[in-house]
Amino acid sequence: MSYFALVPAAGSGARMGGALPKQYLPLAGGPMISHALSVLASHPRIDKVFVVLAEDDAHWTSYNWLPFAGRLKILRCGGATRAESVRNGLAAMADAVGDDDWIMVHDAARPCLTHTQIDALIAGVAEEDVGGILAMPVADTMKRGIGGAIVETVPRTGMWQAQTPQMFRHGVLSEALVTLSPDITDEASAVEAIGLQPRLIEADSSNLKVTYPFDMQIAEWILQSRAGPA
Ligand code: CTP
Ligand code: MG
Repeated sequence: MSYFALVPAAGSGARMGGALPKQYLPLAGGPMISHALSVLASHPRIDKVFVVLAEDDAHWTSYNWLPFAGRLKILRCGGATRAESVRNGLAAMADAVGDDDWIMVHDAARPCLTHTQIDALIAGVAEEDVGGILAMPVADTMKRGIGGAIVETVPRTGMWQAQTPQMFRHGVLSEALVTLSPDITDEASAVEAIGLQPRLIEADSSNLKVTYPFDMQIAEWILQSRAGPA
């Protein structure tokens, strides 16, 4: 049984704004996507990293990917939604992987992932398990709002914020993603919808998703502080 990574990177970064898709924005010395790819491709348990790009992606080839030689496989099969990109990627990689192999799906927009977090996910998802995700217990009080006013305080007991990587066997994940609905916002929700219960592996807030411009500053700080003084 092997481990593979699948990185959906076919989004446009609408909430970030700007012409350059978010995954290519300059961050800590490289395009944002290079950070997650570097961590995944250098992890000793991960055999290969599959990257899903938009069919018409004109940016990927402007960077030097030679340092990753042999570790990356580029799939130009991005879809209209993240779930569609993942589903297309799973289909495109099917010849190279077995049904029982583990696929770690990780957003290009989470550049601060570490080997320690990957190790925790692998260790936390035992062989017989359906799979699992990195996640963080919700710390803030949760409100449901309608029209700008609070209509309900939602108890946060048992509430988690889902992160990536999310790790499932190729066969299970492919089956779960056969039917896509707007409720499928991550791999776990698709797997839940076929009646399975993925494990929650506690992570930390350093594995943030970069969505808005301010998130870039936090990610830059995290990456620079790990690199140590220049
Ligand atoms: N993604 C993808 N295909 C899509 C949409 C998103 O592969 N059709 C990828 C993004 O490139 C990103 C990850 O899924 O790596 C998480 O998505 P998100 O953070 O929402 O990125 P975008 O969809 O690009 O941003 P936005 O929603 O603000 O447009
Ligand atoms: Mg999006």
